[in-house]
Amino acid sequence: MPATRFAKYDRRLKVHVTRRLPQAVETRMAELFDVELNLLDLPMSPEKLRAAVAVADVLVSTVTDTIDAALIGAAGPDLKLIANFGVGVDHIDLEAARARGITVTNTPGVLTEDTADMVMALILSVPRRLAEGEKLVRAGAWAGWSPTGMLGHRIGGKRLGIVGMGRIGQAVAHRARAFGLSIHYHNRKRLPRAVEGPLEATWWPTLEAMLERVDIVSLNCPETPETHHLIDDARLRLMQRHAYLINAARGTLVDEAALAQCLARGGIAGAGLDVFEHEPAIDPRLLDLPNVVLLPHLGSATFEGRQAMGDKVITNIRVFADGHRPPDQVLADY
Ligand code: DGY
Repeated sequence: MPATRFAKYDRRLKVHVTRRLPQAVETRMAELFDVELNLLDLPMSPEKLRAAVAVADVLVSTVTDTIDAALIGAAGPDLKLIANFGVGVDHIDLEAARARGITVTNTPGVLTEDTADMVMALILSVPRRLAEGEKLVRAGAWAGWSPTGMLGHRIGGKRLGIVGMGRIGQAVAHRARAFGLSIHYHNRKRLPRAVEGPLEATWWPTLEAMLERVDIVSLNCPETPETHHLIDDARLRLMQRHAYLINAARGTLVDEAALAQCLARGGIAGAGLDVFEHEPAIDPRLLDLPNVVLLPHLGSATFEGRQAMGDKVITNIRVFADGHRPPDQVLADY
């Protein structure tokens, strides 16, 4: 633990926020801190980020910032906390932060249900061809109902394979059960019976074995060095031709070029993607495929969720500044 967190607590904390946050969150931050907001809401350039960490006590970051070892190396002596607005922290070099004695916090819990809703929306959208149908209607190309028009696939009775059965994975499982899907999951550790039981969930110790068996795969694990390109060409080839891939976690979990090739050759039946490997860029081949639903990273995008995320950021900063362990500290061993 660092000897003192904010020794110079005789002044208001200098908090730099890298993106616009909900109005009420920014207002509260301005009341509490000496806050520098990003009123243009453009992702901050590396130069601007360097300038911010050189003078700030706290950096409030988001997934659109690259907080690598070089940036952390450019931090001034006052930077003690990176309070991330979001649950995923794969854009932050946690080891470099730890080495500099900088604490990192995130915002778990408050976006679980919203993200699970979005996963469920994708699970429904792709097999039932919602995006295709909507496009048809808007294009004025719909000729009316027909017995064989735009048939999709029923999801009830199918097997859903959840990769990563943490908070969001379990919230997806509860929703999917209500839609008649059977729940399969791959996790490093098997869940306790008390969790598995109500979901009638089947644990697969190996991802490969599960991929071969399920009809829909939902990625719900964090991006780490171990999960980077977890779904690569070899694993896509294990999936059944009628299967669908859903990803509302992190784009880098999937080798996007391999996925585009797989979809183009009919290796799987479709994909629902809320996240991309090189966001906001998208492999152009995906844009041309009718059996892919593409969303602009909307998982946690509700007014309620974003407000709650902001509230968590403020709580983390205040608790840390008071000298306590912030509730959402990412690394345990400081
Ligand atoms: C999250 O919270 O991780 C969202 O994907 C936005 O960063």
